[in-house]
Order: sequence, then C-alpha cells, then structure tokens
Amino acid sequence: MRVLVTGAKGMLGQDLCPILEDAGFEVIEAGHKNLDITKFEDVEKYIAEAMPEYILHCAAYTDVEGAEDDFDMAMLINAKGTENLAKICANYKIPLIYISTDYVFDGTKISPYIPSDTPNPVNKYGLTKLKGEEAVLNHCEKYCIIRTSWLYGHHGKNFVESLLAQKDNKSIRVVDDQIGCPTWTIELANGIVRMINQHTNGICHICGGGETSRYEFAKEIFNYAGIDSSVIHPCKSEEFKTKANRPKYSVMDNNKICRHWREALHDYLDLRPED
Ligand SMILES: NC(=O)c1ccc[n+]([C@@H]2O[C@H](COP(=O)([O-])OP(=O)(O)OC[C@H]3O[C@@H](n4cnc5c(N)ncnc54)[C@H](OP(=O)(O)O)[C@@H]3O)[C@@H](O)[C@H]2O)c1
Repeated sequence: MRVLVTGAKGMLGQDLCPILEDAGFEVIEAGHKNLDITKFEDVEKYIAEAMPEYILHCAAYTDVEGAEDDFDMAMLINAKGTENLAKICANYKIPLIYISTDYVFDGTKISPYIPSDTPNPVNKYGLTKLKGEEAVLNHCEKYCIIRTSWLYGHHGKNFVESLLAQKDNKSIRVVDDQIGCPTWTIELANGIVRMINQHTNGICHICGGGETSRYEFAKEIFNYAGIDSSVIHPCKSEEFKTKANRPKYSVMDNNKICRHWREALHDYLDLRPED
C-alpha cells in the first residue's frame, strides 16, 4: 500500500517513514520543501500525481510558545493546511490520519481523558490543532485523528534532549504540577501502523502508558542516564512564567496501545547515540 507522509522531515516523520517501510508500505516522503500544505492547488496537484492510498498528516506548526505571538501562521498551517488536505482526501476518497495533541484539552479532569471528552484548549497552539481536528471531522468520511503527547525522539527538539543538554548545570527547576504521558516517536509510529492495518476510523489516543509530572520525568531521565538528579528541583507553573498556558493534567487513556512511558524511555536512552 502506498502512503504519503506530510512533515516527513520532522521529528515524528523521520522515525515514522522507515517504520512504515519496514512494515511493507511504499512511502512517499513529503517534506516541507516539496509540499507546502498551505497551498491548496499545489497540494491537490501533488496528491493527484502521487495517488496515495493513505495520507499520514504529521506536518504542523509545533512551537507552542511561538503560537501565542504568531497565531496567524499557526492557524494557517494547523487549521487551513489541514483543511486543504481534508478536502482533497474527501474528493479523492483517501483516508486521512491526522496527528493531534493532548493540548486540545484544558487539563481540569482528574482521570485520563478519553477520545470522546470535550476539547477546550488553554493555549493558541492547542486551539489551532483543534481547528485541524474539526476540519478533518467536517470533510472526511474515512479518517483517524490520533492524539499524542509529550513527544520525544532522536530527530527534533524535545524535553528529553533539552534536559540532557543541561547535564552540566548545577541547578535545574522543573514543574511538578503538569501531569501527562511522555511518548517516544517510535512507539507512536508503531501505533500508527497498527491503526492503518486495522482500518481504524474515528478519534484515538496513542501515548505512553501511565502518567508522570514533568519533574518526575526529568528525574527519571537523569537517573537512568547516570547523571546526578539531585540538581533537579521541583517548582510550580506559576514560578516558571511562559507565554502559553499548559494543561495541568493531560493524561490520556491510551487503550494499552503503548508500553509504560518509563519502559519506553529506558529503551530510548539505551539507543541514544553518545554525545
Ligand atoms: N512534539 C510534541 O511534543 C507533540 C505533542 C503532541 C502532538 N504533536 C503533533 O505531532 C505531529 C508531529 O510533530 P513533530 O514533533 O514531529 O513536529 P516537528 O518536528 O516540528 O515537524 C513538523 C514538520 O512540519 C513541517 N511543516 C511546517 N509547516 C509546514 C507547511 N506549511 N507545509 C508542510 N510542512 C510543514 C516542518 O517543516 P519545517 O521545519 O521545514 O518548517 C516540520 O518538518 C504534529 O502534528 C504535532 O502537532 C507533537
């Protein structure tokens, strides 16, 4: 089966494409340079020529802080770009898999979010991703909206790598009042393959199992990597001023699709190239 991946050169895309190939798919890697999802005519032409049997839409504006100031650009890419793909997929009857986020939720629940829970984003990035979800729901008959969270991988900026880059710091403050599910890109990619093979239609959550605070997560990263974790100190979100609000609790019920976040993190660190 021929699948087209948007955002193929992003953090998820770079891990997803080889996993799709290993699973027997023919992969069309559409990076930003050869496919700009905001340009409807170009996207339509590209898809009409490639004629994929599935589209995996990983391209996005992912700078959560940046979206607060650069809302128009975030909307253009995450909402309009996704709407372009959704309309074209509907016309050509191509199933669309859209990668969304835990940041569509407001974090006021006290038990894991399930796919049918009502989104209510607390930051602009989350709002633009929700508009993308709505575009998929409005236009596509065959679709899968996959919400993931706290993504990390070898090919992009993420919490694990940013923390490891600070391994020589004497004091690092990390918030202990944001609870979520860290997810390794490889686990998500394997989950996406499963969704395609099962022809899943609808909204689902694919994220690391269990839950943790950013602080506990940071401690585990240093401990497992053999770095002194006593330099990591807990703090509250209010003390750590950021432009974008973050949900306090964005744990999602992952229906046991992925392993516990700690087990996956250990594998990631074991496979991580030496600095
Ligand atoms: N990272 C997380 O923690 C996280 C959490 C939950 C959900 N997600 C979702 O997971 C998906 C993958 O995220 P990621 O971490 O892999 O993001 P990423 O590394 O930022 O990759 C996104 C890719 O999209 C491309 N892109 C941006 N604008 C584009 C446009 N107009 N047309 C085509 N491509 C464009 C970017 O290219 P350039 O760099 O060249 O602009 C980049 O290669 C996204 O949908 C994201 O919203 C991520």
